[in-house]
Amino acid sequence: MKIAVITGAGQGIGRAIAYHFAAQGYAVSLLDSDTDAVCESLAHIVGAGGLAMHYVGDVACRADVEAWLSQTETDFGTPDVLVNNAGIARNRSFLELSEEDFERVMAVNLRGTFLCSQNTVRRMVRVKRPGAIINLASTRALMSEPGTEAYSASKGAIVALTHAMAVSLGPHRIRVNAISPGWIEVSDWQKAGIARAPHHSETDLAQHPVGRVGRPSDIAEACLFLAEAAGFITGQNLVVDGGMTIKMIYAE
Ligand SMILES: NC(=O)c1ccc[n+]([C@@H]2O[C@H](COP(=O)([O-])OP(=O)(O)OC[C@H]3O[C@@H](n4cnc5c(N)ncnc54)[C@H](O)[C@@H]3O)[C@@H](O)[C@H]2O)c1
Repeated sequence: MKIAVITGAGQGIGRAIAYHFAAQGYAVSLLDSDTDAVCESLAHIVGAGGLAMHYVGDVACRADVEAWLSQTETDFGTPDVLVNNAGIARNRSFLELSEEDFERVMAVNLRGTFLCSQNTVRRMVRVKRPGAIINLASTRALMSEPGTEAYSASKGAIVALTHAMAVSLGPHRIRVNAISPGWIEVSDWQKAGIARAPHHSETDLAQHPVGRVGRPSDIAEACLFLAEAAGFITGQNLVVDGGMTIKMIYAE
């Protein structure tokens, strides 16, 4: 049985990725800092007949990452696939953005991706196991709204980290790719008490050439493709945004 380890798997896109890999027969190990959320994801997968374990921790904390992957190795074995999905945004006016907020966003999004990748790769290399790593970047790595400096910088760095790791890890038969989601609606993929039905205006739909806003399953399917069918693809940044960022817009 193949093993996938997924960060931020308690809610949103990470939850959908965990469900999708579990449904494809993977044993999935879920890390999230939110206990209620990750327990819900775990219960859903196990209830559907899947094999899953969970760990409550912070991707930015080396000790938590080490403990999570060590427990995963004990329970399931060495991972085949890592999805670095956990991410936060603290969007503020550039003039108001504190050093603490900037560093926390960088710590979770960028350092977390580095720590989880390095720890997982050491385990893959030790047993000479090929693997795939998928990093969640964002279309905001390449374009912005005002007040998104920390988030955009962290995602741009993830795209760069992805191609650097792909070159370093090629000889170990480990492929590394990024996915840049556009607008993915996650409000109905939150934990109980927070989840709500999404609402989109006609304008929201019309700014996507495919005519709709993204779903977490769109990203989960792209992850599975990069993990399994994409043996000749590494170091790339796959944009999954319904065409939103290739549509030219003229101000009226
Ligand atoms: N939703 C979108 O439109 C969108 C667009 C582009 C990129 N992304 C990226 O996709 C990823 C998932 O986004 P989402 O919208 O599903 O987010 P979300 O907020 O719905 O879910 C994120 C999950 O990560 C967990 N998490 C947060 N910080 C953590 C930490 N330090 N350690 C462990 N777990 C932590 C949260 O508890 C939560 O369960 C993020 O990296 C995000 O930047 C999302």
